[in-house]
Amino acid sequence: MSIDTTDLSLLERPEWTALAARFEETGTATLRDLFASDPDRGSELSAEGAGLFLDYSKNRLDRKTIGMLIALAEACGLKERTERMFTGEKINITEDRAVLHVALRAPRDAVIEVDGVNVVPAVHEVLDRMADFSEKIRSGAWTGHTGKRIRNVVNIGIGGSDLGPVMAYEALKPFSDRSMTFRFVSNVDGNDFAEKTRDLCPEETLFIISSKTFTTLETMTNAHTARDWSLAGLGGDDAAVAKHFVAVSTNAKGVGDFGIDTDNMFGFWDWVGGRYSMDSAIGLSTMLAIGPDHFRDLLAGFHEMDVHFRTAPLEENLPALLGLVGIWNRNFLGCDTVAVLPYDNELCRFSAYLQQLEMESNGKHATLGGDRVGWDTCPVIWGEPGTNGQHAFYQMIHQGTKPVPCDFICFCEPANPIGDHQDKLVSNVFAQAEALAFGKTEAEVKAEGVPDALLPHKEFDGNRPTNVIMAQKLDPRTLGRLVALYEHKVFTQGTIWGINSFDQWGVELGKVLAKRIIPQLSQSDPVTDHDSSTNQLINRYRTHRLG
Ligand code: F6P
Repeated sequence: MSIDTTDLSLLERPEWTALAARFEETGTATLRDLFASDPDRGSELSAEGAGLFLDYSKNRLDRKTIGMLIALAEACGLKERTERMFTGEKINITEDRAVLHVALRAPRDAVIEVDGVNVVPAVHEVLDRMADFSEKIRSGAWTGHTGKRIRNVVNIGIGGSDLGPVMAYEALKPFSDRSMTFRFVSNVDGNDFAEKTRDLCPEETLFIISSKTFTTLETMTNAHTARDWSLAGLGGDDAAVAKHFVAVSTNAKGVGDFGIDTDNMFGFWDWVGGRYSMDSAIGLSTMLAIGPDHFRDLLAGFHEMDVHFRTAPLEENLPALLGLVGIWNRNFLGCDTVAVLPYDNELCRFSAYLQQLEMESNGKHATLGGDRVGWDTCPVIWGEPGTNGQHAFYQMIHQGTKPVPCDFICFCEPANPIGDHQDKLVSNVFAQAEALAFGKTEAEVKAEGVPDALLPHKEFDGNRPTNVIMAQKLDPRTLGRLVALYEHKVFTQGTIWGINSFDQWGVELGKVLAKRIIPQLSQSDPVTDHDSSTNQLINRYRTHRLG
């Protein structure tokens, strides 16, 4: 393993200490002050690129601070590291892998080499096979074992093999074939499989087993259950598997061992991280839902943002700016969470998707050089679509004791233009961002005739940081741009924090312990080899379980 050491710890960088001093000097300036002293602030602290508009002016920083954050990014080698990623260098040093999700959406004639081999032709070969297969399913040319058309598609996967497909399916439903049903089974909880398949006919159902490794406990358990369910409904003939099961994986042997013909496997590569894989063959369910042309639009949107991130100066670079503002809020303002609040119901799973993208990537405590970080890394990412969230948790965002930076996402054109819904929806974005920034002083509340006793309850501090991201409409291309925006934001922050955003060792320990516990749950003797709490829990379950 080669060690990608940085010569200086982040805290020792002069750009970092300058930012700390800047925070001391300006940290008490309010958004009211900042807007009053810079009338062009709204347009000055905004940027546009790859079809997205970002207004980051309602953050507690000014133009000078942005310049200093950009200087930090330069000192941390953001541009150089971006090039290293785009050119296939093995920057995932703990797994000795390239990080090339950008190759998944590179044009056919692009050349991106890993170990001297251009990976782009293989990417397009898989995309073409996916398109061919999708056309066959969508047209009815591919039939099930009993000759019936496939009407239901069930994706079985978890984490990156589920969250991207579900999120994209929900986001792009208006572009999907409404005569087909799409379901997503992820949880090892049997309820998930049972509820998602209870009304489906096995003769008309195709399962996509999506797993990069093809070893994941949840997915393999669900895959075996799906095979039993399918065969039970198809007369028990093993030959049926070929018509009702396809796999998406990097593990051809695992796929073959499971019983899926590798002709029915769509591959990808170890240089695609699970949480960066929705635009690889893991997106097969997306392609089946929206069709190959829309899927190619999705990839084109990703690619547009890749080009923007790689080429735009940092001052105008949306992912870099989003990342840098996030660093300011996390490391200088001390914000522990970030809310992502899409004002589009179709983005109902977007925050869940980003939770994995951001927290599995940047929730790390070791630097690239193997030291313990001396600064905070990824905040908690959470959120729900607006306006629903407004009637649930916004109270805390407005009057809680700690600022929660928010990303508001909205669109000018709705997928379903009905009456004045969209104006009402989007007006809430602008109103929330305005209210959070400027609040309402006690004097203003008092001037409305509010009794003194209620003043503390009805005043709003304001000064709460927000970004607004706007696009024309939520279509496949825009979704690609939006996801790539956050992918590269994560890369920007990971680069500054000096961590490896592309491994996930932190998920291993729990998996290993669960494997040890599974057989103990059905053993007849009491379990004694854990701590007293774990022994107690296991034994209580053991004596009360069914069977
Ligand atoms: O446990 C975490 C993880 O490894 C994720 O990184 C990944 O997206 C998920 O599990 C699923 O992995 P696989 O696609 O190999 O089944």
